[in-house]
Amino acid sequence: MGRLAGKVAVITGAAQGMGEAHARLFIREGAQVVLTDLNEEGGRALAHELGGNALFVRQDVACAGDWEAVVRAAEARFGPVTVLVNNAGIIGPVKGLLEFSEEDYLRVCSVNQLGVFLGMKAVLPGMIKAGGGSIVNISSIAGMLGTKESSNAAYCASKWAVRGMTKLVAAQHGASGVRVNSVHPGYILTPMMISATDEQGGGAADVIPLGRMARPEEVSNVVLFLASDEASFVSGTEHVVDGAMIAG
Ligand SMILES: NC(=O)c1ccc[n+]([C@@H]2O[C@H](COP(=O)([O-])OP(=O)(O)OC[C@H]3O[C@@H](n4cnc5c(N)ncnc54)[C@H](O)[C@@H]3O)[C@@H](O)[C@H]2O)c1
Repeated sequence: MGRLAGKVAVITGAAQGMGEAHARLFIREGAQVVLTDLNEEGGRALAHELGGNALFVRQDVACAGDWEAVVRAAEARFGPVTVLVNNAGIIGPVKGLLEFSEEDYLRVCSVNQLGVFLGMKAVLPGMIKAGGGSIVNISSIAGMLGTKESSNAAYCASKWAVRGMTKLVAAQHGASGVRVNSVHPGYILTPMMISATDEQGGGAADVIPLGRMARPEEVSNVVLFLASDEASFVSGTEHVVDGAMIAG
């Protein structure tokens, strides 16, 4: 029996990067998984490869109507959603405050912050009805401190917001058996990070005590634990996966 047997999971931003790694691991551990993404071609191809326990639904996480469609599709195919991984995110241009536009600020926050809010709102009624569930919100080390070399005001603000909302919802809905936690990756080798570190001219691994960036699967293992019943008393907490980058 897999560690997620019987769970119905929605993973956003699952067409590539960490979302893809989470989807692959969740399927291996017995979950039925709805993969969502703006990238229809990539998402569909991955769901096809993963087989009958995977379903792709095209979604913009910043659109409330899309969330309704995702929950409807999940329920119709697999049953009530009991795990949500709010993973989709964008970084925007890595610039200082004075160069950062209001337009970029709103765009980044609409995906990273509003998207997480809408996702939790969409799945909570079903989780409450089902007697519980697990929500894993992907924040960042940029939600633990100001990461001036690799981030921007909107990314940092949105990732702190995710950490804050996580605690509030965990406290408000714990009595219904719903657990909510945040995960804070450091530098992980995904298309997003590869392009952001290229802008900095490399050298990212030098600031990581473990001496390297992480593979996406190393974050998936933490997400898997939080999604599973092994984490039955873990809620309202943040889980940093950064090779000790912010420890010192
Ligand atoms: N890579 C890192 O080092 C790192 C570090 C800390 C936090 N994170 C966070 O982890 C999460 C995943 O990042 P990644 O590195 O795998 O990124 P990525 O860019 O490789 O993948 C993100 C996926 O999200 C999708 N997406 C973007 N906007 C969307 C929207 N509005 N609706 C639906 N899907 C959308 C993209 O199409 C893409 O498939 C993000 O929330 C990111 O902020 C990443």
